[in-house]
Amino acid sequence: MSMPGTGQKWRQRLSRSAELDAKYKNPDGDPRGSWFGDNLRANKPYSLGTYSVTGPTGRTFTVPPGRFWRISKEKFEQMDGDGRIWWGARGDAFPTMKRFLSDVGRPVPRTFWPHREVGSNRTSNGEIKRLFAGQSPFATPKPERLIERIIHVGSKAGDIVLDCFAGSGTTAAVAHKMGRRWVTAEVSPSTVEQFTLPRLTKVVAGEDPGGISKSVGWQGGGGFRTVTVGPSMYEDTAVGVLLAEWATNGRFARAVAGQLGFEFQPDAAPLCGVRGRMRLAVIDGTVGPEEVRQIVGALGEKERVTIVAKSVLPQAEMTLSEVSPGSRIRKAPRDLLTSGARRMRRRTEAPPRHTPEEKEGSGT
Ligand SMILES: C[S@@+](CC[C@H](N)C(=O)[O-])C[C@H]1O[C@@H](n2cnc3c(N)ncnc32)[C@H](O)[C@@H]1O
Repeated sequence: MSMPGTGQKWRQRLSRSAELDAKYKNPDGDPRGSWFGDNLRANKPYSLGTYSVTGPTGRTFTVPPGRFWRISKEKFEQMDGDGRIWWGARGDAFPTMKRFLSDVGRPVPRTFWPHREVGSNRTSNGEIKRLFAGQSPFATPKPERLIERIIHVGSKAGDIVLDCFAGSGTTAAVAHKMGRRWVTAEVSPSTVEQFTLPRLTKVVAGEDPGGISKSVGWQGGGGFRTVTVGPSMYEDTAVGVLLAEWATNGRFARAVAGQLGFEFQPDAAPLCGVRGRMRLAVIDGTVGPEEVRQIVGALGEKERVTIVAKSVLPQAEMTLSEVSPGSRIRKAPRDLLTSGARRMRRRTEAPPRHTPEEKEGSGT
C-alpha cells in the first residue's frame, strides 16, 4: 500500500457520511435538492468585496469595515437571480450562499480521524474479545474500521497490503474482507498460534461476523498459505555480509538450495539439488576448472548446472562456458543475496512453489 508523498494525491476519497450530509436541508423546496447556507463574509481583503445589497423585503445589508464579501457584486446578483442566495425564511436575514449537496464531491481524508468514525481501543478490544471468547486478549489490537480507512485510502481491490507486524492480524483480516491480497509477518510463534492464524482462518471460513464484516457484506471466501521462515543465512558484520554460522559446513548446501528454489538432494554428490533441467552443485570452498569438469560430468543429457561456491577461480567460468553452455557459477554470499531478492520479487507476481520449509495454511 502506498501513501502519497509530496505532490502526490490521496488515491481514494472517503464516502460521505450521514453526519456530513445532515447539515444539508431544503427549507425552500429548491428543486436542485438539499443545500446549506455558506457564509458570504470573509476577513481576507478583496478589492471587489465592499458593497451593499438589498434583500426581498427592502432591507439593506453591508459588511463592516475590515471585512469583505467573498464574491463580487456582479457575481452576487447573478447568484441571487439564479435562486442561489438565501435571505432567511422571512426574506429579511443576512444573506448566505446555497451550497448544494449535489455539487459537493466525496471528502478527501483529513489528518485527524475521530473515534466515532474509525473506532477506538475499546472498539478493537471488543472485536478481539468476540473473536476469542474466554482467552486473555491480545494487548494492542487496532479497530477494523481504522484499518479499513487506511486500506481504502491507499489501495484498490487486488492490490497487495503488507503488514510486517501482524499481531492479532487486524490488517490482514480487513484487507482480506476488502478484496485485497495481503502479506503479513509475525515474529512471535505464540501470537501466530493464538491470534493471527485462528483469526484469519475464521475470516476465510466466514466465521467472523464482527468488525467491518457487516458493512462490506463479508461472508467468507478466499484463502492464504503460511510459511515458517528459518533464521537468516547471512550476518551483517563489520567486515561485510557473511554466511551465518549455522549455514556453514554440511548445512550450507541445503540452505543454498532452499534460497534458490531447488529441491534439495542430499545423496546426489557432487550435485545437491534439482529444478527442472537445472541441477545445483554447492562447494563450501573454491571452485576451479577441475571441479567444474567433475560436476559437469555428473549431469544428465540436456541438464545444466548452477554452481555455487564461496570463491571462484577466473578459469572456472571459462571452462564451464566451454563444457556446459547455459550453466553458470554464483559466488556466495554475494550473488545469492541478489538472486534471492529477484526470487522474492517474482513471488509477488505468482503463487510461490512449495519448498520443504513451507507448511500449508488453510487453502490457497
Ligand atoms: C502492535 S502489534 C501489531 C498490530 C497489527 N499490525 C494489527 O493489524 O493488529 C505488533 C506486533 O509486531 C510483532 N513484531 C515485533 N517485531 C517484529 C518483527 N521484527 N517481525 C515481525 N513481527 C514483529 C509483535 O510480536 C506484535 O505482535
